[in-house]
Amino acid sequence: MRTQVAIIGAGPAGLLLAQLLHQRGIESVVLEARTREYLESRVRAGVLEHQSVDILKAAGVGERMMREGLRHEGLFLHFSGRSHRIDLTELTGKALMVYGQQEVVRDLIAARLEAQQPLYFEVEDVSISDLDTDRPRVRYRRGEKEHTLECDFIAGCDGFHGVCRPSIPARHLTVYERVYPFAWLGILAPVPPASHELIYANDQRGFALLSMRSSSVSRLYLQCAPDENLDEWPDDRVWSELRARLGSDLAPGPVLQKSVTPMRSFVAEPMSYGRLFLAGDAAHIVPPTGAKGMNLALADVQILGEALESHYRRGDMERLQAYSATCLPRVWKVQRFSWWMTALLHRFDSDNAFDQRRQLAELEYVVSSRAAAQTLAENYVGLPLS
Ligand code: PHB
Repeated sequence: MRTQVAIIGAGPAGLLLAQLLHQRGIESVVLEARTREYLESRVRAGVLEHQSVDILKAAGVGERMMREGLRHEGLFLHFSGRSHRIDLTELTGKALMVYGQQEVVRDLIAARLEAQQPLYFEVEDVSISDLDTDRPRVRYRRGEKEHTLECDFIAGCDGFHGVCRPSIPARHLTVYERVYPFAWLGILAPVPPASHELIYANDQRGFALLSMRSSSVSRLYLQCAPDENLDEWPDDRVWSELRARLGSDLAPGPVLQKSVTPMRSFVAEPMSYGRLFLAGDAAHIVPPTGAKGMNLALADVQILGEALESHYRRGDMERLQAYSATCLPRVWKVQRFSWWMTALLHRFDSDNAFDQRRQLAELEYVVSSRAAAQTLAENYVGLPLS
């Protein structure tokens, strides 16, 4: 079997790349280890930067998002018993869209199937080779059958735990990493959100976040230990802890889903090796505090799609060779912002009383200085692609 671009992974990065290539008449095959049902139902991120919204619209998959997504023009920072609104749109002229990652994935899968282009789920034993030749290969198994896919390029969109990044010889990669000493306990609840905008809380008891998926579904998070035992968190304990930290009149309700998300900052450089290009979580991870993970993935793929288009139009490798260097400055700015939001809002066991007063002073500064609020807002709504 042959194709032009083999795409490993059918998350937002892999599926969007497939769609961008299809729009430009470039063939691809998408291989995914999990089932379609898993991808379409797993609860992940939910905030799209204005630029991600534009990318999805231009890719022809924005119709349901524009209908069902929630436009957000501000957020709240809650600390010392009070909430302060940051007017993102007044500060930047831009807005955000709250629309779940699994909805983005659902729309992209539908577009792929409608275009009758190859997308294979439950593919096993994927391996990639010949990356430093102009005929890289992907081997995989579907059911009983072994397959070899020859291609011009491989897009590694298979996430942090995927096979693509570890296929790059270690001496060609530099890894930068920070693991945080806490995690997020997240719940999804079929109750109307207690606030129409997100609330990020820094409380004595730890961080909390009120978010949502729709006008009738809330998404809430609590800072917890990385090895937190969910058995110790019956629903009513989760709700009372959320109420204590968010200080709003949160009405308890049923809980549909409960999980613990570890927190990590990670960058692998460069984001390419030979004819393999990494995009999204395969190349970098951000802690969820700035809501940047999916947005970074979509931005990588927009840049990769343009570079591949330029290659197939003009026959040169220039933009592809510049891919990593084009993405990384922005990736690092987003890393910095996600680290900063995390440091601003969480309780660190290593902090002493001085550190806690300094953190509150920084929050006071952000909500009282237009310059500081604008810095937060500019990053939160999203930095330009390049
Ligand atoms: C979410 O809704 O899942 C969400 C929102 C904002 C964040 C992180 C997660 O910073």
